[in-house]
Amino acid sequence: MNLAERMSRLGTETAFEVLARAGQLEAQGRDIIHLEIGQPDFQTPDYIIEAAHQALKDGYTGYGPSAGLPQARERYAQYLNDTRGTDYDASEIVITPGAKPILFFGILALVDEGDEVIVPNPGFPIYESVTEFVGAKAVPAPLREEREFRLDPDELASLVTDKTKLIILNSPHNPTGSMLTMEDLEAIAAIAIEHQIMVLSDEPYSKMVYDGEFHSIAEVDGMRDLTILLEGFSKTYAMTGWRLGYAAMPADLATQIAKLQTNCTSCTASFIQIAGMAAYDGPQEESEAMMDSFKQRRDVIVAGLNELPGVSCLSPAGAFYVFPNVTGTGIDGKQLASDCLEKAGVAVLSGTAFGKYGAGYLRLSSANSLENINEALERIRTLLEG
Ligand SMILES: Cc1ncc(COP(=O)(O)O)c(C=O)c1O
Repeated sequence: MNLAERMSRLGTETAFEVLARAGQLEAQGRDIIHLEIGQPDFQTPDYIIEAAHQALKDGYTGYGPSAGLPQARERYAQYLNDTRGTDYDASEIVITPGAKPILFFGILALVDEGDEVIVPNPGFPIYESVTEFVGAKAVPAPLREEREFRLDPDELASLVTDKTKLIILNSPHNPTGSMLTMEDLEAIAAIAIEHQIMVLSDEPYSKMVYDGEFHSIAEVDGMRDLTILLEGFSKTYAMTGWRLGYAAMPADLATQIAKLQTNCTSCTASFIQIAGMAAYDGPQEESEAMMDSFKQRRDVIVAGLNELPGVSCLSPAGAFYVFPNVTGTGIDGKQLASDCLEKAGVAVLSGTAFGKYGAGYLRLSSANSLENINEALERIRTLLEG
């Protein structure tokens, strides 16, 4: 196959590869506990499913505007304003099939060949993949355990050059569960404002917060015109397969991103956008109960990991991931991740799946039952003690 050269620069998400390998082992009769994929193990609340049914019956079955239905753009803007204290209006919102396309479209719209994008490392692999795909350079901003995996603003400042077009933030963070403080965000904002660099703030875990208070960089004075604020429904409402996300950004940029969507998916399914409005309007108890159970699981998995020989694990402030340091086991993280799956039947990811600064760590998703988490911890203990 004579592929375009750019395809050699497109990365992927190791989680999906490990999921596939785990599936092969299961097909051979092996029992695998899945701690590799970042997906709530809950069903979408019924009232949201019913709203989608109703929207279909009400005729939301055709194409809609590329930027999203006007009423959904307005409602999602309102949600951001309620949760972040911003003052977005509908013209600044673009709705996409999942939050992920905003990463792709945002980078396509803003970043030229030869430009630089500062990405958290370890970090969600799609940031680097898409950056390299468009011929730009992904500049890793190390997230270090000494700083609880929070981006160091001084280090960030040292990475800025005249080619820096975009800074990507993700808080609460995948894969470490770290959360930026208001102080961090103000310091980062000062750098963005000084150099007039756009910030793409990826915030799909904003409701999965266990310690401290969530803040968005969009709250900081002077950041409104420099921010693409990305939100979604996948994690908060257990809607990963529905594919519904959106972002707030300056209205001019929203028009351009909508044009990319016209060229790609045309629009996000209208009945799903309506279901998203219902998600926000309806009772929040079920979503809140899910978040409570993620907190309970975090506590169990962190305590259990810290009891394993050679393993130490910080307690993440948010999201549903833990990022244990496994250097004390004497086993390379990649090897250990492979042994966990092949020998112990526990699917986990090596920290290096999220970049070179993830070396010496594993990433485990705690989006699984307490029973499975405890069983996985026992299996890993047997592996390490064996
Ligand atoms: C940091 C981060 N950003 C974006 C996404 C994409 O979410 P969505 O399902 O809304 O496309 C994920 C999903 O795992 C994520 O972890």
